[in-house]
Order: sequence, then structure tokens, then C-alpha cells
Amino acid sequence: MKINKICCIGAGYVGGPTMAVIAKMNPNIQVTIVDINPERIAAWNDEDLSKLPVYEPGLADIVAETRGKNLFFSTEIDKGIDEAEMIFISVNTPTKTYGKGKGMAADLKYVELCARNIADVAKSDKIVVEKSTLPVRTAQAIKSILHNVGGDVNFQILSNPEFLAEGTAVEDLLKPDRVLIGGESEGAIESLAKIYGSWVPDNQILRTNVWSSELSKLTANAFLAQRISSINAISELCEHTEADVTEVARAIGMDSRIGPKFLNASIGFGGSCFQKDILNLVYIARSYNLQAVADYWEQVIILNDHQKRRFSDKMISTLYNTVSGKKIGMLGWAFKKDTNDTRESAAIYVTDHLLNEQAEVAVYDPKVRKSQMYTDLNYLNTRSEEENEALMTVHNDPYEALKDTHAIAIMTEWDEFKSYDWQKIYDIMKKPAFIFDGRNILDKKEMNKIGFEYSSIGK
Ligand code: NAI
Repeated sequence: MKINKICCIGAGYVGGPTMAVIAKMNPNIQVTIVDINPERIAAWNDEDLSKLPVYEPGLADIVAETRGKNLFFSTEIDKGIDEAEMIFISVNTPTKTYGKGKGMAADLKYVELCARNIADVAKSDKIVVEKSTLPVRTAQAIKSILHNVGGDVNFQILSNPEFLAEGTAVEDLLKPDRVLIGGESEGAIESLAKIYGSWVPDNQILRTNVWSSELSKLTANAFLAQRISSINAISELCEHTEADVTEVARAIGMDSRIGPKFLNASIGFGGSCFQKDILNLVYIARSYNLQAVADYWEQVIILNDHQKRRFSDKMISTLYNTVSGKKIGMLGWAFKKDTNDTRESAAIYVTDHLLNEQAEVAVYDPKVRKSQMYTDLNYLNTRSEEENEALMTVHNDPYEALKDTHAIAIMTEWDEFKSYDWQKIYDIMKKPAFIFDGRNILDKKEMNKIGFEYSSIGK
């Protein structure tokens, strides 16, 4: 099928950047991103590019180049679906918070709503592309919904999971390691392959069956998260043995069978995907009664929770077993650098733990809005919103956040933290001045020379 118009449902961290790059690389295709959230769409359409809802290096330039030419953001979902030959479903698939599979399974209600919406509106043949990360065999459910609409509209379903990493989304999209397309119909697969073919070499466009494609995305995230939990497990052992986790990571990473990437010990992984996708994988394995498989992958999450918890426990024990009434400075709220996404960020959990111990937390993050930080903390429901506002303050200036603090926790590896005037920070802190570097970004010797009590992960 020749594709002239694409509609993407879901203008989030995936839909926005992915479609912006597809539009840039295919000037002859009209790409419309639709969303039920009018504020999000308004932000994507904002003249002021610093107000875009997703911060990614390089993204604003691509939006500036394509928006209003062949890239459009709209709340008119039905119109978008009706006009397009190809529809991407890129809505959120969070962990279920209710009912069967609560806390484990992926909540597919948004995906199902999209399928029903497409079924209601479509008057002509459509290729429906699963861009969201979905449990293996979801295409079956989408197919069943679409095929029960009656009429003679023909639907083809493809799985095209997204492998971009937040913080490097544009780079990852422009130079993907591979693009994965799973499907039954060769014609539909080739229609999508042609779109990627505008900039991705054909030998990097993998064609598989739908189920392999769906499962590959969950598997990729499980393997990536597993590497982080593996090195974090070793980091705790390092702290008891005078081994240095950075040296161990370097030594094992030079083994070509292991490789050097994803071996940074830290406070643990965050983000919207790793935890939810592994929980989903565990849930699927259990649903087939594969207990050993489920237990194996679940351990990646257990270790990650342990890593976050032991970071805040260590802060408290080092600060003479009490943080009550003490001001703690928190550098970074985003789950990693170069993104404004805070979902599942370790900073939220560490802050919550410190507030339980009656600390006062002062936060600075270069890209995350204040309202988002309070939303994240309030979502945990540990205490009232008023209490959270009284105990946690948010600052636009890092030096102001760190003034009069007993300790600093580095939660995100933002580059700017490395170039701060650490002598000046030491001078404005209470003494002894502690730094807990959850990302191993500062130099221990330098910090000790200034006078800090410095501790990091796995050293
Ligand atoms: P997101 O939450 O940033 O965006 C989803 C958007 O879908 C929201 O703006 C929401 O309003 C909209 N939406 C929900 N239901 C809708 C409906 N019925 N009609 C219209 N719009 C609707 O989510 P994000 O991060 O973009 O993730 C989307 C999917 O991509 C998820 O399945 C995720 O697992 C997957 N993914 C995410 C990656 C990431 O780094 N964030 C990377 C690769 C995959």
C-alpha cells in the first residue's frame, strides 16, 4: 500500500520524537500525531520551543523544521484516523494498578480504546502499527477487535517496537542499531519498511513474525535492566571488599563477550519502561505456569529496589542515624540525564524515604518542572500534599538548594553537576559536609581535598 498519510495515536516520549524523525525523513508523507490530552497537544504546538512537553537533545530543531509542513499535532483523533492509511498506536501501557495482574501486568486499556476507536472510524483499509510495548500475543486481541467491525474494511496489524532510549532519542532514531517489523502480510511489512528505508539501510530492518517482534522488545529491556542489576549487585560486594566497581566494570567490559556498555553502577534504574516491562514478562511467564522463568527475571527488580533502598539507608546511617530536621540537597530528579521524564526515578523513592525520617529535602533539576516533582511525590500517597509541600522545596538555582544542607544526594548524572564550583558549595554547607554520589560522577580525591565526606556506589 502506498502511504501518503500517517496518524500516530499518542503524543508522548515515543510518539513525539519518532514521528518527528519520520516526518523529517519523509517530506512527502503527512504525519499527524493525535492525543486525548489537549494540554500536551497545545504544548507540542507552542511557538516557544522550550515549552515542548518532551525534552530531548536535538528534538526542538526537528520539530521547528517539520511542524506545520508535514508534521501536525492535533486533538482530532477521529479525523486523523480517517485520513491515514497507516496508524501507529503509541499510547502508554503502564503496569496495572487494579484488578487481576495488579502491580505486574501491563494495562492495555488505552491500547484497546485505540483499537476500538480505529474500528469505529475507519472507512478504508488501514495498516495498524503497534509502536507501544505490548505483551506477546496482543496483536491477536487488536485483530479480534478490528475484525469484528463488519463492513469490508481490511486491517493489517504490524508490530514495530521502539528501541530508542530517552536522553538520546533523536540520535537513536536517526541511527538505529536496527528497526524491527513483525507481521503476517508481506505487503504491509514492506510499506512500513519503505518509510524507514528513507534513512535506515535495508539490512538493518529486521522482518519477523508478530510474536517474535512483540517478545523481542520485552526481552531487550529485560536484558538491559539485568546488566544494571548485575553490576549493582557487584557494587554492594565491592563496598565490603575494597574492590572498586568502576575498575571491575572496566575489566569485565573489555571482554568482547561481555562488552563495555550498560555497566555503570548507580542508585538503580528508573524510567517508565524497564520495571514495567520486566514485571510484565514475569506476569506472562507465570500465566504459562513457568515459575522458574518468572522468578529468574523478577530478581532483576528485587535487586533494583534493594539498590535504591540501601542508598537512602546508607545516607541515614552515615548522618549519625538521624536526618530528622536536617536539610538534604538533592541534585537531579529526572530518571537519567538529558530528559525531563521522571517516571520511576530513584529520586522520588529516596526523597520519600528521607521525608519519612523527617528530613527536609531541597531539590534542583535543570529540566524537570516543580509541579511534576510534587505530582510524583504525591502519587505515592505516603503523606498529605500539604506535608509534602512543607517538607520538600524546589529551587531554580542549585546553590540556593544546597545552602545550609548537611548532605547532598546526586540522583541524576546531569553533566552540569560536574562543573559546579564545589568549593563554593562546601563553603555554604553545614559541616561535616557529606556527598552521596548515586551516579559516581565526581572525583573522590578532589572532593576529599575540599573537605567533603564523599561516598559513592561500589567503592
Ligand atoms: P507517554 O505517556 O509519554 O505518552 C502516551 C500518550 O498517549 C499520552 O500523551 C496519552 O495522553 C496518550 N493517550 C493515551 N490513550 C490515548 C487514546 N485512547 N487516544 C489518544 N491518545 C491517548 O508514553 P511513552 O513513554 O511515549 O510510551 C508509549 C509506549 O511506548 C509505551 O508502551 C512504552 O512502553 C513504549 N516505549 C517507551 C519508551 C520510552 O523511552 N518512553 C521507549 C520504547 C517504548
